[in-house]
Amino acid sequence: MHAFSSEKRREGKKIGLVPTMGFLHEGHLSLVDKAKEFSDVVVVSIFVNPTQFAPNEDFSQYPRDEERDKKLLSEKGVDAIFFPQADEIYGPGYQTYVDVTEITKKQEGEFRPTHFKGVTTIVSILFNCVMPDFAVFGQKDAQQASVIKRMVKDLKFNINIIIAPIVREADGLAKSSRNIYLSEKERKDALILSSSLRYAEQMILAGERNVNAIIMEMTKQIAKVDTAHIDYVRIVEIDSFHEDKNLASGKEYYILIACKIGNTRLIDNQLVKVISEKDLAI
Ligand code: PAF
Repeated sequence: MHAFSSEKRREGKKIGLVPTMGFLHEGHLSLVDKAKEFSDVVVVSIFVNPTQFAPNEDFSQYPRDEERDKKLLSEKGVDAIFFPQADEIYGPGYQTYVDVTEITKKQEGEFRPTHFKGVTTIVSILFNCVMPDFAVFGQKDAQQASVIKRMVKDLKFNINIIIAPIVREADGLAKSSRNIYLSEKERKDALILSSSLRYAEQMILAGERNVNAIIMEMTKQIAKVDTAHIDYVRIVEIDSFHEDKNLASGKEYYILIACKIGNTRLIDNQLVKVISEKDLAI
């Protein structure tokens, strides 16, 4: 990987990296398109990273289909697939971790306390292997994207982080490799995530600024779905992931949901910009 990237850099080419865990869907392919906008050479990494899964999570069941992934990526015209094996990444005696300490504590961090340390560690390793100029992450994992931006800033990686929008199914469900776990009924029930987000967005656009009122309304709607079990519904400022009591004009927020549908844990979010009362009146 170093030899490939060094040669491309010597040729003056800009390298874009799309880190993935494979089992690719249109969401991942949209990240490839975004990487192509910014770079001359696109590298996609595929690595189901064991350190970001807790022992009780779905590492061993996580869906994998290497042949299909390779076919999709060659049809997309990516320049290289970086496909390391677990023992090449975490060889014998491995003991180095990267930990972003604050914005990892809440939201996903409350439910998956070891997750982000695994993510920032593998992403640092991938950055060092691929040596990209750009790296593209999906807004679907909004907290992950903000954590990585923080890490890049703090550790002075010379890499631009690009966040690409969420890709949804026609009925609104955010694309995710984990959607494959849903039964037919659960697939329908899962629409409560996107519909409650849209409802919350409408409340904010109509002038609601009280975070509790919005969260209570969303919670009420989700509670009507018998297979749904909420981990959290929160509204956070997009860079710090700080939770304010009231939304402030001019600021951007993510409305976040993490919710189990049956046994499948899904996350989704909606970015909203709060416009001022004055602009609302126009
Ligand atoms: O978003 C993902 O698929 C993973 O967390 C990532 C960034 C590839 C790291 O393993």
